Amino acid sequence: MEAAPIYHVKPDLAASAVINAARHRLMSNHAITDADGFWQEEAGRIDWIRPPQLADNSSFDGDVRISWFSDGILNVSVNCLDRHLDLHGDRDALIWQGEAEDDSRILTYRQLHAEVCRLANALRGLGIRKGDRVAIYLPMVAEGAIAMLACARIGAVHVVMFAGFSASGIADRLGDCGAKLVITADEGRRAGKRVPLKATIDEALALASGGSAGAGKPIAPHTVEHVLVLRLTGGNVAMQRKRDLDYAEAVRGQPARCEPEPMGAEDPLLLLYTSGSTGKPKGLLHTTAGYLLWARFTHEAVFDYRPGEVFWCTADIGWVTGHSYVVYGPLANAGTTLMFEGTPSWPEPGRWWRLIDKYKVASFYTAPTAIRSMMRDDPGFLAATSRKSLRVLGSVGEPINPEAWLWYYHEVGGERCAVVDTWWQTETGGIMIAPLPGAIAQKPGSATLPLPGVVPVLVDEKGQVLEGEAEGHLCISRSWPGQARTIWGDHARYVQTYFTTYPGSYFTGDGARRDGDGYYWITGRVDDVINVSGHRIGSAEVEAALDHHDQVAEAAVVGVPHDIKGQALFAFVVLKGKEAAPGYEAELARHVGQMLGRYAAPDTVLLVPDLPKTRSGKIMRRILRKIATRDTAELGDTTTLADPAVVQDLIRRMEERS
Ligand code: WTA
Repeated sequence: MEAAPIYHVKPDLAASAVINAARHRLMSNHAITDADGFWQEEAGRIDWIRPPQLADNSSFDGDVRISWFSDGILNVSVNCLDRHLDLHGDRDALIWQGEAEDDSRILTYRQLHAEVCRLANALRGLGIRKGDRVAIYLPMVAEGAIAMLACARIGAVHVVMFAGFSASGIADRLGDCGAKLVITADEGRRAGKRVPLKATIDEALALASGGSAGAGKPIAPHTVEHVLVLRLTGGNVAMQRKRDLDYAEAVRGQPARCEPEPMGAEDPLLLLYTSGSTGKPKGLLHTTAGYLLWARFTHEAVFDYRPGEVFWCTADIGWVTGHSYVVYGPLANAGTTLMFEGTPSWPEPGRWWRLIDKYKVASFYTAPTAIRSMMRDDPGFLAATSRKSLRVLGSVGEPINPEAWLWYYHEVGGERCAVVDTWWQTETGGIMIAPLPGAIAQKPGSATLPLPGVVPVLVDEKGQVLEGEAEGHLCISRSWPGQARTIWGDHARYVQTYFTTYPGSYFTGDGARRDGDGYYWITGRVDDVINVSGHRIGSAEVEAALDHHDQVAEAAVVGVPHDIKGQALFAFVVLKGKEAAPGYEAELARHVGQMLGRYAAPDTVLLVPDLPKTRSGKIMRRILRKIATRDTAELGDTTTLADPAVVQDLIRRMEERS
């Protein structure tokens, strides 16, 4: 293989970096030789009510216990707000830019603190106490961040649900987490259109009132007592007496101070649902101190962040990236975070580039899908902006192809900026493998080296650890503070999912290659998770949604490469009846969109008479993937195939399509 080009650390970035190469070496050594000492030092940068004596008390064996700083007491909202008031009370904490250009709002630390306290008081007034779950179903508005911090202030566990989830997806999650209260808005705005939110919550609550949906399986009855409704568009929404309350009314008159709840380091902070290889989304639990520390530490290290700079992460707060790098990381670092309600190319392409100039953004963090899509825009939109405020460009969510990396580096960053390709997951809480701008040379397409204290290992199919240059399954052999502690209500599933494949190690579900310089190249998921536009989708979830359609006998979903989205969903569907009406494929895709949310609707649905299975009845996805990508010259081992004729028939059908 040809050696990958290297982009060396820029001397000016190295000279002023928070972490330069020498310091990076020192930190990495310290974190290995004296992990407790290293993390105690990092923990010293948190504001504690009672500082911890203990650091790591985790074990990947047996029942698996993840525990950090467990005797410490603190409050996350105090660390993100109160702590900065004396010195930086008048600094911009949150800049919100609405979809309409003239619709924006800037909150200083003092103002954000007051807003958070008002809502926190309102929530307490509604009976929300430490440990209660509060669901947040909001678009990208300032109140999303305010709601998260208000929950953290009173010790409520926030469960942010992506505003693209459907009613049944929400119903499932509300039942699973036992939320007591939901914070939503009348409607969202997207590319000039309105998106119903309150109506979707109403539908979800109706479904979860003893109904049955969500791929045919019963939904646990919900426990929601109140719904707070933010008026964004003023659209007409039904309000159920006593249950539904107006957000503005609830916070009006509330004091701008609120006593923070003292939280144990291991008390729950948040749940985030994510997809795995079964149909049921799992609620990953992050706890108070470790998550905060990881968000703070990684945000500063990976973006070489200096307080006062404007930091812009384009991720939705409904995903982990929005949690750690729109809200918690930047605010814990006394930073200024930009939150944008709109999309990159509405009302016309180049919107993001113009916003970078408008707010003098120093670090910009987005997904390869967006980069690839903007590469195709008329270059005039990019050329019309200067982007000279930028220092660091980040990428996350999927492997970035060298072509997109190079465009990002040359065209967007004008060859002045570091490109940081950051690998991590909902489960890791924050970034795990990434080049630090002032310390690590970059190679396009590689996430490069682990952060101090992160110990990746590559293992083969048999669980043998591979040394040196190698390709295998990516595991992490030691706990780190930001690690998810469990799956809500199902610790056995947590152990089973992450710690049984390679006992004693956390298994990420990703494959990776390590080159001669020790650099990691993530090759993508090795399980049944498909990464569409940086959104994690379990093939089993989509299959369950298809199976739920009354005309579907059976379905199998695979990921196929896609120029812009990285991967796209390809569904093979067997119908119950023999003949389908023309256009039935689109109806099935729409059905999945309704069940799960539009982001999970398959790009391609192929109606087929049968699916290739092993003699024991297991669907052979490996073969379906080859058929879907027309890569059928070499099918690999087909000896376990129950009926080879099925495969030949599918290949013929694919040929007929082109
Ligand atoms: C993928 C998003 C390659 C990976 C933060 C992982 C990446 C999954 C990268 C987690 C990257 C994330 N290069 N692949 N830089 N970053 N991934 O939980 O497959 O939504 O397992 O977290 O995204 O997705 P999640």
